[in-house]
Amino acid sequence: MSKLWGGRFDGKNEAWIDAFGASISFDQQLAAYDLQGSIAHVKMLKKTAILPAEDADAILAGLQTLVTKVENNELDYSVENEDIHLNMEVFLHELLGPVAGKLHTARSRNDQVATDMHLYLKDHVQQIVAQLKTLRQVLVTKAEQHVYTVMPGYTHLQHAQPISFGHHLMAYYQMFTRDQERLTESLSRIDLSPLGAAALAGTTFPIDRSYAAQELGFAGVYANSLDAVSDRDFILEFLSNASLIMMHLSRFCEELILWCSYEYQFIELTDTFSTGSSIMPQKKNPDMAELIRGKTGRVYGDLFGLLTIMKSLPLAYNKDLQEDKEGMFDTVSTVMHSLEIFAGMIDTMKVKEQNMLQATQQDFSNATELADYLATKGIPFRKAHEIVGKLILSCMEDGIYLQDVPLSQYQEIEPTIEADIYQKLDSVQAVKNRHSLGGTGFDQVLAQINQAHLSE
Ligand code: ARG
Repeated sequence: MSKLWGGRFDGKNEAWIDAFGASISFDQQLAAYDLQGSIAHVKMLKKTAILPAEDADAILAGLQTLVTKVENNELDYSVENEDIHLNMEVFLHELLGPVAGKLHTARSRNDQVATDMHLYLKDHVQQIVAQLKTLRQVLVTKAEQHVYTVMPGYTHLQHAQPISFGHHLMAYYQMFTRDQERLTESLSRIDLSPLGAAALAGTTFPIDRSYAAQELGFAGVYANSLDAVSDRDFILEFLSNASLIMMHLSRFCEELILWCSYEYQFIELTDTFSTGSSIMPQKKNPDMAELIRGKTGRVYGDLFGLLTIMKSLPLAYNKDLQEDKEGMFDTVSTVMHSLEIFAGMIDTMKVKEQNMLQATQQDFSNATELADYLATKGIPFRKAHEIVGKLILSCMEDGIYLQDVPLSQYQEIEPTIEADIYQKLDSVQAVKNRHSLGGTGFDQVLAQINQAHLSE
């Protein structure tokens, strides 16, 4: 069959050139959305009497047949027909004959493809929002189980101050809450219809863009036809929101990987999320966490790929824009799989509370407690800081910790020091005493968890 756009061409098409220009191998993922867009368009053509009712009805019936064929995976797409839009039109032609040719009245593939992309992304962003919600629930449930689990808090990956493990989990809960908010807010910009912009300039037919937009469930229409067919900022915004999600997942995965190492032994991942080694029988590797960390790179790549594609494109449509799809599909599936695996990993991981606690008892992460204590005895904090620093040096020489220093030695430093100092130096107490708003104190962690329940 000759090309649908073949009228002004008399040279023959070369298969290898067709293959380079074709997008059907990947844009067939848009099939259902493409038909949805065509159905709304033809309903609009009928309502505005641009097409006679019987033609419109015939086309609608044909499109419905194609919907069923897509659902049953019965369509055999061809590279010769380039993309999803032309493939669908050819199928329609095979079903209906010449009347199929009326579908494309007052429409261009340029507004058609943009419409498909908006429908696709709206659908998937909503699915990712739902996944983030699930993940946040998993985190809150885990945090609830571990409000009183004490672990070392780190800065520079060095023991800093003891914290509640629940607090650590809730930190990620907050990050994923913002990720979810960002996606939800972005919907107002995705939920717009480009349909009716036609090739670039609108059309002379008396179309009703709002009606078609309503049929598609869009909240509004693009105000400018050139903008509607040529920008992809709605995809870039999604890719950048997706990059932030992956960045958060990747940081947490890095911690999981460290925590299940021999050196930490803070957690154990279940077998489902681990793999063995083909040579070393003892190995249990956190492959899934590593993969999510690695896949973050490809999502960043998708973002930078599209930013680069867009940077010098003159208005309006250019074929370069066909390159917007694979990165978007790749990011959608990467983020969705990563979120699912990650939620499962957190939900099922075994937390070794005793090891976490022990790590806060054989270190100097209670040094701030001692300095604070001295400050309450009237020693200026800077001076107290120096005294504790020197004391730590001598402890390290003797191979002991601050809680092992005898009271008499403390009283040499400051006579008003009393036995209650040992309570202050206890890591569980150190966590408990941090009552400041948003701090790691148990009461604060519980308040955060309550707040999370309230906002569900
Ligand atoms: N497959 C094309 C794309 O994805 C559809 C739009 C083609 N428009 C055109 N004027 N060649 O961008």
